[in-house]
Amino acid sequence: MSNNIVVAIDGYSSCGKSTLAKALAKKLHFIYVDSGAMYRAVTLYLIRKNIDVKDEEAVKAVLADIHLNFHARDYQTHILLNDEEVSDEIRLMPVSENVSAVAALRSVRHEMVKQQQRMGRSKNIVMDGRDIGTTVFPNAQVKLFMTADPKVRAERRFKELQPTHPEITLEEVFENIAHRDFLDTTRKESPLVRADDAIILDNTNLTPEQQLDFALTKLEPFLKAQDR
Ligand code: DC
Repeated sequence: MSNNIVVAIDGYSSCGKSTLAKALAKKLHFIYVDSGAMYRAVTLYLIRKNIDVKDEEAVKAVLADIHLNFHARDYQTHILLNDEEVSDEIRLMPVSENVSAVAALRSVRHEMVKQQQRMGRSKNIVMDGRDIGTTVFPNAQVKLFMTADPKVRAERRFKELQPTHPEITLEEVFENIAHRDFLDTTRKESPLVRADDAIILDNTNLTPEQQLDFALTKLEPFLKAQDR
């Protein structure tokens, strides 16, 4: 299939990118790729090996030892780090606190982008992240740039974390999100910016169903063209 459709979803931390991306992929039977999970899995590897996440040379030296794979099932993120499923562990605080530093490293980004582009070469795909519409797939048919009120984002994430991490406070979650936004938007390598042709989707006051409808409307012309 050469006329494959790529949907690029970028935006700030915890503003519902993956909720929308998964819902879209499920509805349309597209492949869903969570690019953030890749940076998280690399981070987990470095933490486990006690490698300083800011030491670009040390990180570069082990990049070839890190093998990432997704296994597609039920439109959730199932990511394998050297054949071990780490989908839950990559969401924990040690990874969340270090991942922005790792995602700022040029060699790491270079490798991840290469792998991501390979995944979207011939298949219908929804990928979410920070640089998907700008760097990974600048020619994506539909680009969405998602945003929401930072307080609302922290509350949503806090609720998600509560069952498994009752010790975490709302303030800690808010601080972590604000810090990641700062790092993601100010880093030198592929900072989070809206692509000129990306459609802004502020979901502060939208339900998941409403944001899905919004995205489907934007995709409709491309789906029709592909059907022909
Ligand atoms: O979406 P997330 O919170 O799981 O992303 C984790 C980190 O990875 C976040 O700090 C930003 C970074 N990231 C990135 O730099 N580029 C991407 N395409 C995806 C994520």
